[in-house]
Amino acid sequence: MSSSGEYMNGHVHLEESDMDESDGKLFLTEAFNIIMEEILNKGRDLKEKVCEWKDPDQLRSLLDLELRDHGECHEKLLQRVRDVAKYSVKTCHPRFFNQLFAGVDYHALTGRLITETLNTSQYTYEVAPVFVLMEEEVISKLRSLVGWSEGDGIFCPGGSMSNMYAINVARYWAFPQVKTKGLWAAPRMAIFTSQQSHYSVKKGAAFLGIGTENVFIVQVDESGSMIPEDLEAKIVQAKSQDAVPFFVNATAGTTVQGAFDPLKRIADICERNGMWMHVDAAWGGSVLFSKKHRHLVAGIERANSVTWNPHKMLLTGLQCSVILFRDTTNLLMHCHSAKATYLFQQDKFYDTSLDTGDKSIQCGRKVDCLKLWLMWKAIGASGLSQRVDKAFALTRYLVEEMEKRENFQLVCKGPFVNVCFWFIPPSLKGKENSPDYQERLSKVAPVIKERMMKRGTMMVGYQPMDEHVNFFRMVVVSPQLTTKDMDFFLDEMEKLGKDL
Ligand SMILES: Cc1ncc(COP(=O)(O)O)c(C=O)c1O
Repeated sequence: MSSSGEYMNGHVHLEESDMDESDGKLFLTEAFNIIMEEILNKGRDLKEKVCEWKDPDQLRSLLDLELRDHGECHEKLLQRVRDVAKYSVKTCHPRFFNQLFAGVDYHALTGRLITETLNTSQYTYEVAPVFVLMEEEVISKLRSLVGWSEGDGIFCPGGSMSNMYAINVARYWAFPQVKTKGLWAAPRMAIFTSQQSHYSVKKGAAFLGIGTENVFIVQVDESGSMIPEDLEAKIVQAKSQDAVPFFVNATAGTTVQGAFDPLKRIADICERNGMWMHVDAAWGGSVLFSKKHRHLVAGIERANSVTWNPHKMLLTGLQCSVILFRDTTNLLMHCHSAKATYLFQQDKFYDTSLDTGDKSIQCGRKVDCLKLWLMWKAIGASGLSQRVDKAFALTRYLVEEMEKRENFQLVCKGPFVNVCFWFIPPSLKGKENSPDYQERLSKVAPVIKERMMKRGTMMVGYQPMDEHVNFFRMVVVSPQLTTKDMDFFLDEMEKLGKDL
């Protein structure tokens, strides 16, 4: 003990907190003002840039990223917060069309901030009483939109993980012995997914030891939807190679073209072959809110599992993804449980079925339900439905306007909110038959992309696909967009590409 009566351990005071509460709270308050001003006000201001592009070396030195022995003063740290805001891409900006998420919903954002502040884990009722009950309600509502009055589900860290959960649970359903005995105890397994499905299916096959060569790729038609006849052919092919078909991944809303696979026909094939049917509705699931557009996923209720990312079309913010199951036999829990006794004690004083953490492959799990719940409370299912309908209507407007302009050639214009197109610069007009046309066209998108990033005026993605050379994919996600934003997009494209 020191002469002042305090316990000392070297220079560490053991009888007082190391954290200065008032300094910390002042910092948070001032940083919050920067968040409001620099991200939410300027970040959504049309006069401001979507991104302040810097080359990586320049950005590294501007940010002074090195971590040192000593700490920094309040003012310097606030400047760092401003710099993070300044040089980050403003995905909430009305001219950000680059990803399958965009915009900002203030109720959802409030949910995200509360989640961060409460900093708990979703695994047990004792540390997350509110969120365990809330997750149950949100999952049950999403499930009923799919058409299931019962079932199971869990929030996962993203759609790729949700798809991997589906593969793992399906494998447990088909070959339960794999959980304990490993892959030695199972035959060669086959998965089926379309050419245009998300790459997470292949990643899942690699991660789970199924092997990417056992993912049979099913052909798509012109619109990008799986051809059921080819699915049947691929099942026959897999069987002829002594592989056991057990899992079909159908996509509702493909990443690039926004195509919907024919779910009813795929369900028939799965039933006939005793296979698990999964629907990756990470992108397109939100059409379930819309009376007008839910026909796109007709048959989804016949699936065994569904992935759905509200962080895409519904604007909850990253991350918010669920995997939903039709199963009522607790497969999800049986498949993943490890029964850790330090966390899931069975003699607790409350109903231990509320400790849902053992359904997960994670231990600590972020709370992802609050942002969706709060937003849903704020605008109701009807508000969410209107958002979906608005995105569809704005997409129609964009397509019609694009068709009026001579520099645009559509690759796909529906049925969803993905608009894929080539920008044909004046120098390539009428040159379709020249031998180097495709090569020259392919170079247009990367140049326009570089220009838009450096000017900071907007962001939209491009890609090659199948036999198509580089084309742009514009996605209309945010309900905060208007026809003016669509007009701006087309005008800006023309400006960026006029001299090419
Ligand atoms: C159809 C589809 N499935 C799955 C995913 C993966 O979702 P996440 O990015 O949340 O992992 C995406 C992402 O764009 C997607 O488009």
